Amino acid sequence: METNVQTIVSMPRIGEKAPEFQAVTTQGNINFPNDYQGKWVILFSHPADFTPVCTTEFMTFAKMEKEFNDLNCNLVGLSVDGLYSHIAWLRTIKEKIQFRDMKNIEVQFPLIEDITMEVAKKYGMIQPGESSTKAVRAVFFIDPKGIIRAIIYYPLSLGRNFDELKRALIAMQTADKYSIATPADWRPGEDVIVPPAGSCGTAKERMESDDVKCSDWFFCTKSLPMN
Ligand code: BEZ
Repeated sequence: METNVQTIVSMPRIGEKAPEFQAVTTQGNINFPNDYQGKWVILFSHPADFTPVCTTEFMTFAKMEKEFNDLNCNLVGLSVDGLYSHIAWLRTIKEKIQFRDMKNIEVQFPLIEDITMEVAKKYGMIQPGESSTKAVRAVFFIDPKGIIRAIIYYPLSLGRNFDELKRALIAMQTADKYSIATPADWRPGEDVIVPPAGSCGTAKERMESDDVKCSDWFFCTKSLPMN
């Protein structure tokens, strides 16, 4: 009889508490997500140190780090490499690598060492159909209460779009603040979607309101205060 041995990987889901772990990083030890209470965190994995696509991603994220910090969001990276590999790679990036207009880039956010793959497996970052030895490019958005709010996965060959990660963060923060939703390709400053009316009375109110623009009772948008 043939035995089908499968690697058991857990796949955290949107709306669940971010799985807890303690780890060694390039910025010291972390206790996740407790160290980040009250802040958004983008926890992201990359396949391996000293690889070109990952290098471009790290340079781009490092260049944008202040923009994310200004949005009350911290960045935390992970790969299944060891700490000394991480340190050597980040030093090489700073000393030797030029990509687009970026050079002399110092990565200051923590990069987790995960040679045991414990964290990568907890977060479903090892996807054996793609690779059983490297993490895929996963992105977890975790809110100030430690809840997973969005997850994006990319394959090994595809570098992420960091403007999209920033747009997604701002959209979720805006949705939380104003109890609205955001339409396709929404950019900050554009009109937002008013959630569909839950009663005939609200539908009528919406259709008659000056603040809300409705094409039909279920399709209403409004502008937000500029800030
Ligand atoms: C890269 O980052 O360049 C890469 C990593 C793993 C597989 C393919 C590309």
